[in-house]
Amino acid sequence: MAIRNIRTEEDPILRKISRKVENFDDRLLMILDDMKDTLIKSQGIGLAAVQIGILRRIVLVRFNDKIIELINPEIIEREGEQIEAEACLSVPRKAGKTLRPKTVTVKAQNRNGNWCIYKGTDLEARCFCHELDHLDGKLYLDNLAPGEKAYFTRDYE
Ligand code: NI
Repeated sequence: MAIRNIRTEEDPILRKISRKVENFDDRLLMILDDMKDTLIKSQGIGLAAVQIGILRRIVLVRFNDKIIELINPEIIEREGEQIEAEACLSVPRKAGKTLRPKTVTVKAQNRNGNWCIYKGTDLEARCFCHELDHLDGKLYLDNLAPGEKAYFTRDYE
């Protein structure tokens, strides 16, 4: 288990497409453990593997202190809209308002390879969308609501 460095905005790896996880093996478990340590240490609510330099379709989210591991996740349903502020561990000290669905349904594999369904509203929906975008090389900055700009904040380091 280890805390990994989080890649930031200017690192070109964040713009790359992550590859599907095919093998549910010890290496995957190691990545999941390292991501968990890194997420807790950084006090984030979500982390994609690419943010620690691993181009695999793996995301962790933390809702109410419960960590969910999402492997090969896909959004299968979107409902409604919301415009709220979002931030990213890879874009330190900034935030910006994005346009996201109000509710999303995600299907993903767990560490055993079994498919599970998750539904999230408001913050959880934003978090699912934000983290899944990382797997396709996108940052929330690409998704700002019309007329919005990223701004500096002291809340995120
Ligand atoms: Ni992010």
